[in-house]
Amino acid sequence: MIAIIDFGSQYTKIIARKVRESKVYCEVLPHTVTLAELTKKQVKGIILSGGPNSVFEKDAPTCDERIFTSNIPIFGICYGMQLIAKHFGGEITEGKSKEYGHANLYIDNNFNLFQGLWLEMSIWMSHGDSVIRMPDNFQRIGHTETCSIAAMCWPEKKIYGVQFHPEVSHTHKGKEILDNFMLTVCRCEQNWTPISFIKTAINDINKEVKHDKVLCALSGGVDSTTVAALLKKAIGRRLTCMFIDQGFMRKNEGSKIKQLFENEFNIDLIYIDAVDRFHTKVAGVTDPEEKRKKIGEEFIRVFEEESKKLSGDYTYLAQGTLYPDVIESAVGDISKTAVTIKSHHNVGGLPEDIDFKIIEPLRMLFKDEVRQVGIQLGLPEELVFRHPFPGPGLAIRIIGEVNKERVETLQLADAILMEEIKSAGLYRKLWQVFAVLLPIKSVGVQGDKRTYSNVCAIRAVNSDDAMTANWTHLPYEILEKVSSRIINEVPKINRVVYDISSKPPSTIEWE
Ligand code: XMP
Repeated sequence: MIAIIDFGSQYTKIIARKVRESKVYCEVLPHTVTLAELTKKQVKGIILSGGPNSVFEKDAPTCDERIFTSNIPIFGICYGMQLIAKHFGGEITEGKSKEYGHANLYIDNNFNLFQGLWLEMSIWMSHGDSVIRMPDNFQRIGHTETCSIAAMCWPEKKIYGVQFHPEVSHTHKGKEILDNFMLTVCRCEQNWTPISFIKTAINDINKEVKHDKVLCALSGGVDSTTVAALLKKAIGRRLTCMFIDQGFMRKNEGSKIKQLFENEFNIDLIYIDAVDRFHTKVAGVTDPEEKRKKIGEEFIRVFEEESKKLSGDYTYLAQGTLYPDVIESAVGDISKTAVTIKSHHNVGGLPEDIDFKIIEPLRMLFKDEVRQVGIQLGLPEELVFRHPFPGPGLAIRIIGEVNKERVETLQLADAILMEEIKSAGLYRKLWQVFAVLLPIKSVGVQGDKRTYSNVCAIRAVNSDDAMTANWTHLPYEILEKVSSRIINEVPKINRVVYDISSKPPSTIEWE
């Protein structure tokens, strides 16, 4: 594996993603990690990330200096390169030639790190300090117009440093540079595949769980479903899943989950029909935050009641936590197997003081890796590539008051939208697409009759991470068909509008 030592760069997660894309396993580790810990993990190479600090600051993060003489290949990126330079006695200037944005890199020597690359390429710079004199034994392998030492190395010791960011997409051929380090310099094997993950995960689960029983709370999304499928493979009938039906899923989604688990996967499913309870809780509530809170609290209550009936029987509760969450919450504690459950979790926020040990088999995976594992485990594509869906479900897509009739109306409109988007081959190209039921009525004419009925909004967005999003320019023909079908087929809707707002300043969901 490759160890990525994190010095707080906003790009650390991207480095990890890029390494994994090349089928090389990696872990992001805190800068306090010791050489002994790295040796125990049998790392074949170390990447020192960038970071917001200057090596001159009093409390600037450092790493276990023994790694520099350990003979493990090292690749320092930005701050990482400055740390290397400082350790070996180079000279660094403080903030004199700040540089952010594109630059042209001129490669002085295209062996190892730059093997197979053109001698000039576009790179992404983002730094304040710069190395102005290399330590003894180092040689320059790249420069830019303003940065005379943009890349350096000590080839005999396999220590490399670059001032730019090969991990970001703005750096042309950055991925090749990382590959050169991992594959040519460190000689890593490309054996991190869904199949190898599943094999190792099954072993680990069995080692941890032994003969105990595991309860898995399902949300209907890809993460918890993949956890369940993986656990089933590992421990068979000692797995039981629990699905709390709040009544706010898309049309037929609740029954599809039931069918998938009971019939196709042969997994014991405790299906809790809590629809009436949730509707009673949200009756008359129109404020979005209050609605979310009431649903979240009720979810916890139902889970508590139901799991109490089981605790004693079940030692473990399985969670679908993913690696980005682990990296974010891991301040020096990345190797622990149990973390506190976070309220934003996809199962919808579970109680904090539950009587289970937590097991998180996907905690080292990124979302797209979970999808590949899901496919490998035989989950249907429809589920694996399902768009993100909020914990409170359709309740926050029904603006204003929620009742069973309005849920049903929205389910019908939403199902038509999904059908048309999927048959046009657009589903996988969108981040999210959904219908929203508005709390106003408008006048229409259907047949010879005047109607006074509901308005439905269509929302389609593109995004990489949901932090920002652009409204999608869906083809007019699709919009026309969706609108016409919704108005004709859904009894309580007589008008359809299209949401043309991006995030920011709007959010993706309406509530
Ligand atoms: P907003 O509306 O804040 O949403 O732009 C960003 C992304 O988060 C999803 N979302 C949720 N996901 N539980 C979830 O698991 C929630 O309560 C929740 N609320 C919003 C939303 O669909 C979008 O992808």
